[in-house]
Amino acid sequence: MTDEPAIDPASMYEQMGGHAAFVRLVDVFYAGVAGDDVLRPMYPEEDLGPAKERLTGFLEQYWGGPTAYSRERGHPRLRMRHMPFHVDPEARDRWLLHMRAGVDALALPPLLEATLWDYLERAAHAMVNTFEPRGIGPQSGGRDDAAAAASLPLTIRRAPDAP
Ligand code: HEM
Repeated sequence: MTDEPAIDPASMYEQMGGHAAFVRLVDVFYAGVAGDDVLRPMYPEEDLGPAKERLTGFLEQYWGGPTAYSRERGHPRLRMRHMPFHVDPEARDRWLLHMRAGVDALALPPLLEATLWDYLERAAHAMVNTFEPRGIGPQSGGRDDAAAAASLPLTIRRAPDAP
């Protein structure tokens, strides 16, 4: 038994349909966010366009596509970047609900869909940073940088020198 993924993750980006597919995924997701009374107030900008671009770029890079995200934003440090937001189980479930609509819109072959969804579910669970009622916590800077840096991996690709 190994923990190797069942399909070559480096080619996921192409297999999923490349840029057009990621744009579609994120468009459908943000259409849901735009009408969500828990999530929408969390997004600082009036226009969701820049947030869309960041998420699209991150997901493309993660799945083996272009790496513009890191050039523009540096290391994702996603847990740390989410610390200012109240990501409780309800926010997570709503995030996943809208992401599920995006995934469904892609109509991917079952193995690709399961691989993508498994990642999104695990990532969303990892992003939860509070179980307090809204209005209490989370505190920015409440965790040290080392813990934040040990966040989600930058890409599914293995580093060339990884054991
Ligand atoms: C679990 C519920 C989640 C909530 C409520 C949430 C909410 C947010 C909010 C409010 C922002 C700021 C918008 C912006 O300015 O870009 C953001 C940014 C972002 N989120 Fe999430 N998020 C969640 C989960 C995730 C997950 C699971 C991922 C990755 C798989 C993710 C990836 C990102 C990325 C890449 C950014 C932009 C980071 C940057 O470069 O500044 N989020 N999220």
